[in-house]
Amino acid sequence: MEVVIAPAEELAVLAADAIETLLRRDPATVLGLATGSSPLKVYDELARRHEQDGLSFDRATGFMLDEYVGLTEDHPQRYRNVIETEIASRVAWPADRVHGPDGLADDLPAACAAYEAAIAQAGGVDLQILGIGTDGHIAFNEPGSSLASRTRIKTLTRQTRLDNARFFDDDVDQVPSHCLTQGLGTIMDARHLVLLATGRHKAEAVHQLVEGPISAMWPATVMQMHPHATVLVDDAAASRLQ
Ligand code: F6R
Repeated sequence: MEVVIAPAEELAVLAADAIETLLRRDPATVLGLATGSSPLKVYDELARRHEQDGLSFDRATGFMLDEYVGLTEDHPQRYRNVIETEIASRVAWPADRVHGPDGLADDLPAACAAYEAAIAQAGGVDLQILGIGTDGHIAFNEPGSSLASRTRIKTLTRQTRLDNARFFDDDVDQVPSHCLTQGLGTIMDARHLVLLATGRHKAEAVHQLVEGPISAMWPATVMQMHPHATVLVDDAAASRLQ
């Protein structure tokens, strides 16, 4: 696991560099997309490169990590809409090339299985962008998740719902209680994992991720077993590293 400690702007440039290298080499690259605050500067940087340097996403495919269950199609916090706003629309990514688990499906387990099949059909994810929760979750694999898990329905912890209430008028009761999420096993299949974390509130999770024992109680620690994992952190998030 490679750990880079740098200011947030530099971290975003490093992540965008890795994505641009892949896209220039193979325009049909498959990218794994995270929502939340952590990747926003990366998406800004990719939008800038699209605008100024002609970086094209025309032939790329995107797979989102997760989706809330039950948010209506037009809900601004539905992750499909967040990804559209934060990255897809800004880089003219064709809508039919960006995929997410269907949190409105009648048959949620079937939607999860279909999502796994779609990722496999696309040849797997080349580079997966990740954030980390304060409780050590990646995607919505909360503490206790099986390290071998695949895309499935999960219950969000109270902590994660509190963390995400800022996107729902600071009202935790508006945060959905369930989600569909890629499993830890699904994420581990990606060929390169790039995790971003900034701020002191992430310091304990980053400490566990890099230096803790591999444990389902800190799900991100599974990344220690990945052959190509990059952890991009600022000084504050790195403040508990030995
Ligand atoms: C989002 C996701 C989550 C977030 C994590 C950190 O798709 O899968 O695991 O990456 O909750 O969120 P932020 O970046 O908002 O601190």
